[in-house]
Amino acid sequence: MNILLLGSGGREHAFAWKIKQSPLCKQLFIAPGNAGTASLGKNIALDIMDNAAIHDFVVENRIDMVVVGPEAPLVNGVWNYLRKMRSTSHVSVIGPSMQGARLEGSKSYAKKFMQEFGIPTAGYREFYSTRAKAAINFIKKKAVPPIVLKADGLAAGKGVVISPNKEEAIAEIQAMLGGKFGEAGRKVVIEEFLSGIEFSVFVLTDGRSYKILPVAKDYKRVGEGDTGLNTGGMGAVSPPPFVDAALMQKVEERIIRPTIRGLQERGIHYHGFIFLGLILVGGEPYVIEYNCRMGDPETEAVLPRMKTDIVELFAAVKEGRLDKIKMEEDERPTATVVLTSGGYPGKYEKGKPIAGLDKVKGSIVFHAGTKISGEKILTNGGRVIAITSFAKTFKEALKKSNKNAEVIEFEGKNYRKDIGFDL
Ligand code: AMP
Ligand code: GLY
Repeated sequence: MNILLLGSGGREHAFAWKIKQSPLCKQLFIAPGNAGTASLGKNIALDIMDNAAIHDFVVENRIDMVVVGPEAPLVNGVWNYLRKMRSTSHVSVIGPSMQGARLEGSKSYAKKFMQEFGIPTAGYREFYSTRAKAAINFIKKKAVPPIVLKADGLAAGKGVVISPNKEEAIAEIQAMLGGKFGEAGRKVVIEEFLSGIEFSVFVLTDGRSYKILPVAKDYKRVGEGDTGLNTGGMGAVSPPPFVDAALMQKVEERIIRPTIRGLQERGIHYHGFIFLGLILVGGEPYVIEYNCRMGDPETEAVLPRMKTDIVELFAAVKEGRLDKIKMEEDERPTATVVLTSGGYPGKYEKGKPIAGLDKVKGSIVFHAGTKISGEKILTNGGRVIAITSFAKTFKEALKKSNKNAEVIEFEGKNYRKDIGFDL
């Protein structure tokens, strides 16, 4: 099979690494990829938001399967476009239709969906920019701080703001409805604050049956002890020890099955991953958010623990026989540590030479924001490298990852040494 993988982060390097292990994969292309994916397949300069360009590449290179890493091309309708064109309608796309991607692309859509199908989530109200006064009134009279405000659309991971008091919430909602996040914030969801421990469950579905991948927990704050600004993710562990079989049974019965049923009832085509951002409140799981893709850096912690051939799984999705495949997990936990550029998630510089990659021992290195320049590998993003290790316990795995985090060097390097500190 010829496979085209869209994306350029640590998640995509992990996908490429796993796909490349499959005997079913003949040629692998990554668009645009990074310095890590370049050693596993062919990186190609293709605008992943240009459906027509993707279509042409698929035709010219006889691509059988397109695996979509990030959400943006899905929300942008890459599945719909390839399905609609006669020359690509047979191509398998791992990633939902744009209708399915709305579970991530619109918070308001996701909340309504959960309400309709009885899926546990925080209570909410939503307001359009034309009703800013009503929104402010609601915050003044009804909301209980901390107040959770969510821009309806995609806002590069910055669309969720938790205000500690009503004054800040009012200022924030005025900014959002006033265009702080552009169109994405013209509608805002105000949500009840849920207090508990979060975890990530990943489901691969063919729209009817599904497989659950290894569970993970990620660490989004830039500072140790979960302090400072939110990032794309500074590290992850898989599995989080508190997620036991009893909890997963609740997740399956109350969240996964009703979600798949909801997709079916709405007639939504969904061949791809559902990422459930969950929170445990008093022993019960609630949905914080849906994503229509895998998490980053969770993927770097999860895929190494998956023993099953991922291309075989993807092929089963296409053929609607996912329920015939056995998922096998490595019992050993993993811990992933992300090395970031100095200043990230604020302003940071790119183009710093990375040294010491060849000195890493006993861990798997996934590239994120890196690029090749002549003989050198340079930093090319906020999150630069993800290091994953296996051990008997996640704490031992973390020690290995942290040790190798020291070995890799570039100017301004930053990382958290305390991934999993709360477990
Ligand atoms: P994201 O949607 O990935 O930008 O992340 C939003 C983060 O905000 C989540 O990971 C939670 O930590 C937090 N969050 C979102 N909704 C709620 C809620 N209803 N109650 C408490 N925390 C929330
Ligand atoms: N690590 C969280 C995400 O990918 O959204």
